[in-house]
Amino acid sequence: MKMMRLDKLLATLGEGTRSEVRDLVRAGRVTVDGAVARDAGMQVDAEKSVVALAGRVLSYKAVRHVMLHKPQGVLTAARDKKQKTVMDLLPPLYAAMGCMPAGRLDKDTEGLLIITSDGQLAHRIISPKKDVKKIYYARLDAPLGERDAAAFAAGLHISDADGTFDAKPALLEILSDSGCEVRIHVSEGKYHQVKRMTASRGANVVYLRRERIGALDLDPALAPGQWREMTQEEVALLEKEDE
Ligand code: URA
Repeated sequence: MKMMRLDKLLATLGEGTRSEVRDLVRAGRVTVDGAVARDAGMQVDAEKSVVALAGRVLSYKAVRHVMLHKPQGVLTAARDKKQKTVMDLLPPLYAAMGCMPAGRLDKDTEGLLIITSDGQLAHRIISPKKDVKKIYYARLDAPLGERDAAAFAAGLHISDADGTFDAKPALLEILSDSGCEVRIHVSEGKYHQVKRMTASRGANVVYLRRERIGALDLDPALAPGQWREMTQEEVALLEKEDE
C-alpha cells in the first residue's frame, strides 16, 4: 500500500503542476475508483486505487525501468548544470520516481542504456563482480586482426594518460575485411574502457554503439533518442544470472 495525496500522485505522474492538477480535480475531471474526486487532498492508494483523468486510467508503478537508445551528444548523468543529460530525454516523472542511468556511456557513444529506479538492478548491471557482459559495435581508424583478438582474449594491460589497469579477458570479433569494424564483448566498465582497449592496439574508435547488456538487446525499433518502458520479460533477462 502506498498512500499519498491525490494531487501529489497526479503531479508525480506528470499530469501537471500541483496547482494545475488541483484545477482538474475542481473541474470534476478526475475519478478515483469510479467516483468523481472532489478533494485534491484526499488520500489514495497509489498502487491500488483506479485513478482516471477524463476517463483515461493512470498507472502508478513504484518501480520504473526504461530502455533508452542513447544518442550522441548527451551526457549520461542524473543532472548537469550546462549540458543536456539522458534524463532530459524522458518526462520528469522518471526523475521524480528516482530513476537513474545504470552505468555510463560516453557523450559521443550511442546505444543501449538502462534507466531504472531499482538500485539493486542498476548495481547488478554495473558491478564488475556480477560479470554482466556488454557488447559494443565499433568503427576504428585502423584495422585490428587476429593477433589483436588473441591479445584481447589474454587480457590487455592498459597504460595510458588516464591510468593503468589490467583488463579482463575480452572477445574481439572482426566484422569486416577492412578490420575497421569490430564487436567487443566486455564485462567491466572502466572509464573509456573500449576506446582504451582498442587504442592500446593502435586503433582509435571513431564510432561506438552499445548493442547488448547481459541477455538484453537494444530494441532495433528504437532510433537514437527514443525510449520505452521495459517489459517484465526484459527486466527478467537482466535479473537472471548469466550462463
Ligand atoms: N567504452 C568506452 O570507451 N566508451 C563507452 O561509452 C562505453 C564503453
